Amino acid sequence: MSIDFSKNATECSEACRAEVKGSIPDWLQGTLLRNGPGIFSVGETSYEHWFDGMALMTSFTFKDGEVTHRSKFLRSDTYKANMAANRIVVSEMGTMAYPDPSKNFIFKAITFLNHTVPDFTDNGASNFIKYGDEYFATSETNYIRRVDPFTLETLEKVDYLKHLPVNLVSSHPHYDKEGNTYNMGTCIAEKGKTKYVVFKVPALPDKGALKKAEVVCTVPCRSLLTPSYYHSFGMTDNYFIFIEQPFKLDILKMATAYMRGVNWASCLKFCPEENTLIHVIDRKTGKEIETKYYTGAMVVYHHVNAFEEDGHVIFDVIAYKDNSLYNMFYLSKLKQSNGLQDDSYVKPNYRRFVIPVRSDKIGKFDTETKKMVYWSEENCFPSEPVFVPRPNGESEDDGVVIVSVTNSVPGQSCFIAVLDGKTFKEVARAYVKGQLYKDVHGFFIPKTN
Ligand SMILES: [Fe+2]
Repeated sequence: MSIDFSKNATECSEACRAEVKGSIPDWLQGTLLRNGPGIFSVGETSYEHWFDGMALMTSFTFKDGEVTHRSKFLRSDTYKANMAANRIVVSEMGTMAYPDPSKNFIFKAITFLNHTVPDFTDNGASNFIKYGDEYFATSETNYIRRVDPFTLETLEKVDYLKHLPVNLVSSHPHYDKEGNTYNMGTCIAEKGKTKYVVFKVPALPDKGALKKAEVVCTVPCRSLLTPSYYHSFGMTDNYFIFIEQPFKLDILKMATAYMRGVNWASCLKFCPEENTLIHVIDRKTGKEIETKYYTGAMVVYHHVNAFEEDGHVIFDVIAYKDNSLYNMFYLSKLKQSNGLQDDSYVKPNYRRFVIPVRSDKIGKFDTETKKMVYWSEENCFPSEPVFVPRPNGESEDDGVVIVSVTNSVPGQSCFIAVLDGKTFKEVARAYVKGQLYKDVHGFFIPKTN
């Protein structure tokens, strides 16, 4: 039997005890919050896309082996306006709504002027985010709605734009061990300088942590009028990973969508002929690492994991070869394709990327034995190594490797290190009087007789 994705949900607003079969571990105490679309039609009108549905929040509270469940619709301004009008009057990504469809072209033209920079919905049906000690129901617009995570009561509406220059914001933030929240958004309306903004909301126990949000770094957009769409990003102990994929939002098309009678989703375009740019940003300095990494065109919605190992940033994503996943969730398509059983849509692909990021270590890799030897020293950054063979040497690594090394500790000298070509063990070092600087390539000229 298939699921009817367009059926409106009903609330279960009083906490009800669920029937437990089996035994829930004693240590499992707490509340699981879930969020997602729950209302798909109001009066005679319906949303076109499943993601557009008005938010239904659900909670499952685990206490002493028992589970209680409740669910409530998010009382967003969107919900209130739609219910008061008994029709859908607020646009969502996949549904452009016209408050009064009887009005003519002139009326539309006037209203259009108010929609060139759209006032987005506050129907936060995608996720919950914790900022400080407060919880918010979110989608990807500049509006989020504070909620009580235990009663599921809808509280005040918060506009990111009052605190940060972001028009669109990811609903998949990261949290560090101290409880600080890191999230990123796109700024599309600041003097034509479209950029991506990574920000930090501190783990403050008081209300209003978002007021203390600070921008950690900004990444300029490759194409000002067509910023990349992204749904999540990666974070390791020391780096942010942002995939600037050729799945883009056309701002000009967006500004005219209302007038043209098309939804905002139609302003997203995938450009398979373009590449994907991976930005790796140092969390401490807020600067991108110098090397740029490119890969083929792909569409990524969800990052899976990210960590660091041996001077590399390693991250996993679910990648698609085009953007047809979104189209799969149009309610008309879901009806046609018997739920999500349609095989014609693109399949997900688990991909791991391994990116070298640290230049404080040099290594020798034996391609036959797959063994590696390294040389490194704390706070020291070696240059490109140059191998100098021993005259009449017996093997290809018989000789020394010379590296010039800069020292980042003020007052400590820079030096030239001479390493054994076989073992990479240090044979000698020569401290220089002046400063050494980061360089690129070099050449050794042996003395001739
Ligand atoms: Fe998601």
